[in-house]
Amino acid sequence: MTTQIMGVSDVSLRLAKQYILAGDVVAFHSETVYGLGADARSDSAVRHIFELKGRPQNNPLIVHVHRDFDISTLVDSIPPYARALAKAFLPGPLTMVYPSTGKVSALVSCGLNTLAVRVPSSETAQAFLRAVDIPIAAPSANVSKHISPVTAQHVFEDFEGRIPLILDGGRCEGGIESTVLDCTGEEPLILRAGLVTREMIASVAGSCGVYVPRKGEQPRSPGMAYKHYAPKCRTAFFAPEELEQAKSLYREEEERGGVPCFFCEDALARTLEGFRVLDLGSSGEEMANRLYELLHRGEEEATLLIGVCPEERGGVYEGVLNRLTRAFGG
Ligand code: TXA
Ligand code: MG
Repeated sequence: MTTQIMGVSDVSLRLAKQYILAGDVVAFHSETVYGLGADARSDSAVRHIFELKGRPQNNPLIVHVHRDFDISTLVDSIPPYARALAKAFLPGPLTMVYPSTGKVSALVSCGLNTLAVRVPSSETAQAFLRAVDIPIAAPSANVSKHISPVTAQHVFEDFEGRIPLILDGGRCEGGIESTVLDCTGEEPLILRAGLVTREMIASVAGSCGVYVPRKGEQPRSPGMAYKHYAPKCRTAFFAPEELEQAKSLYREEEERGGVPCFFCEDALARTLEGFRVLDLGSSGEEMANRLYELLHRGEEEATLLIGVCPEERGGVYEGVLNRLTRAFGG
């Protein structure tokens, strides 16, 4: 199979629809990361996604719909706070989990009685979802555990010859995955931190919890249980106060003939003269925007990526830190 990369046009949308209705998988741009989409109503199409990614069978998928899609066919018991949040943040990088009506394949939710629904704001995603006009199950378009894709080329590198089409919308601006929010309780509960922050949610809903799995408990958002987002090169991770150790490791790697590279925030990067550095930037938004792009570049160029944890700051930083620590193995 040849994998075509096409921008949005009448031709590419017609092709995308044909592939999807035939049970095939099509990758598409979104404002967070690229997704790997298939007909959410079809067991075999959904199974195909899991096979392509090598994804564990107990990690449920998000269903994507266009902005005018009536989600009351897919989920029920939508609480008033969720309606307010949808009004404030959708279309956008917020995924909301509700009780499922069972109208999509049971494989999407891996046996849970809930369904995660997302309305992306990307014009490419909207055009695609509107063209097919059915719920599309889509995880991030990377092989399981690898770095999430923020360009069509990243998707191509993981799936060349295995999917027919990538709908190219350029580089993903958001850069990290959507916030996953449980809306089945009295108050919203963040299952996965992302671009819509706890503060933003609380300002609309009045309050917002953050789910922390208790020891030994099956996590509510099972995807959070795995090592994830990992580059193919070796990695090491240090606290800011361990900088001298990090520099020693850098020199050892060089002496062995390897190519070490620091991976850190801008304030530190500017002090690392004479060292190879990938600079994450300063604000939470900037770090989110650059994170996966730089991890992809790092695995291409370095034999050892030496992460130094950025200093705490609020907002989107929460989601960045979560991805960063998991990409570097904790
Ligand atoms: O931004 C995004 O969310 C991207 C783009 C493509 O939309 N998608 C994405 O999908 O990140 P994925 O499969 O890589 O991550 C989905 C997350 C996982 O952590 C999964 O466990 C959680 O959503 N999830 C899905 N359905 C759920 C449900 N019913 N209850 C709780 N968590 C759920
Ligand atoms: Mg993913």
